[in-house]
Amino acid sequence: MNAVMPVRRDVKFHLPAEHVGTWLQGSPHVAHLANTFSLFLPTGERFFIEAVRTYRDRVDDPELKTAVNAFIGQEAMHGREHRALNQVLVEAVPAAAGIERFVGGLLARLQKWLPRSYRLSATIALEHFTAILADGVLSDPRLLADAEPRFAAMWRWHALEETEHKAVAFDVWTAVMGRGPRAYVMRCGGLLIATVIFWGIAIPSYLRILNAEGRLFDRAGWRMAKRHWWTETRFLPNLWKPWAAYFRPNFHPWDHDNREVLHQMDGLMADAQAWS
Ligand SMILES: [Fe+2]
Ligand SMILES: [Fe+2]
Repeated sequence: MNAVMPVRRDVKFHLPAEHVGTWLQGSPHVAHLANTFSLFLPTGERFFIEAVRTYRDRVDDPELKTAVNAFIGQEAMHGREHRALNQVLVEAVPAAAGIERFVGGLLARLQKWLPRSYRLSATIALEHFTAILADGVLSDPRLLADAEPRFAAMWRWHALEETEHKAVAFDVWTAVMGRGPRAYVMRCGGLLIATVIFWGIAIPSYLRILNAEGRLFDRAGWRMAKRHWWTETRFLPNLWKPWAAYFRPNFHPWDHDNREVLHQMDGLMADAQAWS
């Protein structure tokens, strides 16, 4: 069951457009990896909302019902703020528009073709993935250090709310699919397929943005990205272990109880209020 009740927060970050390519570490190679993920989020989050919404009537537990509504509200706010980010990204790097369109088209087709249980399986897999990314960001202050404050605040807010609601879609899944062998196979298959598709789109998209920026063969930039995302913080290699935890038959997102990171929300909301 959910250890934390998620809360929808209507915050706007008013991102400064001129920093979109350099907001993290002053480096396009570092910033554009996060920007690439942002391109997937508005359509991805709409897909998650729809997947969970189709099962809302099957949830009997009133607490889970409340959490589902908060989940939908949070993902809708994330979508709005990431659309604002993506708009300034597309203005700076027009090639990003093609990536956004491609992902939107793919998800629209999956929305139409996949049975709803498969869509929920993909949703809980990607929610697991975002929860791991969020935990990495929130537990190592170096990841958002040396960043433009509004961009950093937006990503921190998103990571905090992903942590708050990390078990909601999963609990809906368990409520409607149970914990039998069929549910287990569908859940694990969902993570394997979602991971392959995610990186299969994310890596070429990231390279395409860097190419459009004329940075594909900038060795100093690559060294910086490697240091930031790989060697110094271990952010990317550290994803592996929590990713694999999902395959435990009795896995639950709150097995990893990281609710202590949520105290970061207070200072963040004070900053956001001062900006709006
Ligand atoms: Fe989100
Ligand atoms: Fe989420």
